[in-house]
Amino acid sequence: MKLYDIVFSPTGGTQKAAALLTDALGGEVTHVDLTDGKQDFHAVSLTKEDTAVISVPSYAGRVPSVAVERLTMLNGQGARAILVCVYGNRAYEDTLVELEDAAKQAGFQVVAAVAAVAEHSIARQFASGRPDAQDAEQLSEFAKQIQSKLSAGDFSEPAIPGSRPYKKTSGAGMVPKPTKECTGCGVCAAKCPVQAIDKENPQKVDEKACISCMRCVSVCPHSARRVNSVMLSAVSLMLKKVCFDRKSCELFL
Ligand SMILES: Cc1cc2nc3c(=O)[nH]c(=O)nc-3n(C[C@H](O)[C@H](O)[C@H](O)COP(=O)(O)O)c2cc1C
Ligand code: SF4
Ligand code: SF4
Repeated sequence: MKLYDIVFSPTGGTQKAAALLTDALGGEVTHVDLTDGKQDFHAVSLTKEDTAVISVPSYAGRVPSVAVERLTMLNGQGARAILVCVYGNRAYEDTLVELEDAAKQAGFQVVAAVAAVAEHSIARQFASGRPDAQDAEQLSEFAKQIQSKLSAGDFSEPAIPGSRPYKKTSGAGMVPKPTKECTGCGVCAAKCPVQAIDKENPQKVDEKACISCMRCVSVCPHSARRVNSVMLSAVSLMLKKVCFDRKSCELFL
């Protein structure tokens, strides 16, 4: 049995939550980075004996479409899947059901699902510092419960919250732009999950291709990439009303 950590995580929050779960499950872990568009995901094949933790962030209550595209290229071949949706303490709405459908399409057998919280990647003052020690404790407890289910030979599908058809997507429409501090080093272009930034001229961004994931903002070594401050203030104001209460991690077995 091999344990796979299959993750789409532009700014690292999803990866942090996924690692807390995979570490608690124990054993050697094989990583598959769905954030890296240069990989050939068709070449990744699992077996029936394997278990995969498949983790994505929630974008407007849905799975980022590029993560669905890449996940459905994998060959699950009956491997068991633990689904993880990571959100910024607002809501995850239809993310887990959409992830369930994509995982099944890729040939996985869904045995558990988890919703976890990480820092909001657009407005980082929300859910700041999460996943924290309390989340770590909860996720480690979830791992024990998942292990007990699997070692009892129970591979049944959990009841996962969410609606089909899924809620309509609405792109965040926030395309980060370089500031005058930009040195043209190209780090952001190399790391953009959808190659929306021109490698030769990082000042140029393909606004239609951009998924507003904020990776370019978080990887820029000169803090020289930002979203429009008026738009960011408007989003922060909206989030303030819905993000004030601490949401806990949830397990569906
Ligand atoms: C475009 C976009 C849309 C988002 N939509 C939601 C949302 O609907 N609900 C929520 O609670 N958090 C939302 N978030 C926050 C992310 O789900 C959260 O910060 C997640 O941890 C980001 O994952 P990453 O750190 O792996 O990139 C959104 C973030 C982005 C960039
Ligand atoms: S990483 Fe920052 S400094 Fe480098 S090209 Fe991108 S925005 Fe400019
Ligand atoms: S350009 Fe858009 S898609 Fe690319 S890293 Fe920046 S926010 Fe993400």
